[in-house]
Amino acid sequence: MPGADARPGAQASGPVEIHEGDNLEVIRGFADGSFTLIYLDPPFNTGRVQGKAVETAKPRAATQAEADGAGAVPAESREGARTGGGSGLSHRTTDNAAVVRRGFHGREYERLSGDLRSYDDRFGDYWGFLEPRLLEAWRLLADDGTLYVHLDYREAHYAKVLMDALFGRDRFLNELIWAYDYGAKTRKRWPTKHDTILVYVKDPQRYWFDSDSVDREPYMAPGLVTPEKAERGKLPTDVWWHTIVPTTGREKTGYPTQKPEGILRRIVQASSRPGDRVLDFFAGSGTTGAVASALGRQAVLVDANPEAIAVMRKRMPHATVLASAPAAAQTARTAARASRGAATAS
Ligand SMILES: C[S@@+](CC[C@H](N)C(=O)[O-])C[C@H]1O[C@@H](n2cnc3c(N)ncnc32)[C@H](O)[C@@H]1O
Repeated sequence: MPGADARPGAQASGPVEIHEGDNLEVIRGFADGSFTLIYLDPPFNTGRVQGKAVETAKPRAATQAEADGAGAVPAESREGARTGGGSGLSHRTTDNAAVVRRGFHGREYERLSGDLRSYDDRFGDYWGFLEPRLLEAWRLLADDGTLYVHLDYREAHYAKVLMDALFGRDRFLNELIWAYDYGAKTRKRWPTKHDTILVYVKDPQRYWFDSDSVDREPYMAPGLVTPEKAERGKLPTDVWWHTIVPTTGREKTGYPTQKPEGILRRIVQASSRPGDRVLDFFAGSGTTGAVASALGRQAVLVDANPEAIAVMRKRMPHATVLASAPAAAQTARTAARASRGAATAS
């Protein structure tokens, strides 16, 4: 269904469920193998985390896209709270982790994880937050399912090594580069103008991938192909040139870390079918849900930040919103505080 309309307020064809609360708590209630596509855009961590109990994602420097977006996508320090350091695994998640580690490269994973955490303790804190959530995502993924993890260039390489060891290197499908070119450029190094999205499949023999459904893009040199081919456009490769969310325009929700619909549209088109269930448990402004719904998928979205929930309600008036679980209320409040603090700082 190329070109489906994901505009706010546009007729939506797929149902959307929004959960407010800490994602780890919420997703533990979902059934094994119940999602075909999971897209995660977690907060990037460049700050040192102090505590080990419930803690707030530390303010970080904006990614280049966010810095470039000025008001549109400022620093992610505005966003949600997080739980757990390395010690934050629940009994159930620990079991899940043990299964994954035993099933694939247990010893290798433990060694790598220990090495990388000791090499850079900021990454250790970040990974302590992310790992239990990735393990839950893996549990939730259907046999033909695909996991997309959107990362900052500062974290992507460590995360790739660890996810290879955690899930199995043969489950790695792609490294997508989202390249943009907007805003000021430093003269002290190559200006960083990309994000990385790592893609893993639950089963390399069974995963769903439909390249025919993906929106095509113009050839760089249309004169070198037939007019028919030029007219049809070419299939995107693993490098996606795409603008950031414009600072003005219909797509802009005002949520600081909003990602462009065009990026999510490709992901949803390729890795799910109409009717499939799509999950984003770092949902933010709900880009994944808006796109998935417009493409006839069932979307399930989770965020701890009440401001994100408010933006999603407005963007997807047809969504069902499920109230925050009591245990997650503190996380939500912390997320909101972090969000307001960063907004003031920027
Ligand atoms: C980078 S933003 C996602 C932006 C989103 N992709 C979009 O297009 O708007 C990350 C989101 O994760 C949320 N978050 C952070 N920690 C969380 C947690 N423990 N549970 C639920 N949501 C969390 C933040 O509130 C924030 O909205």
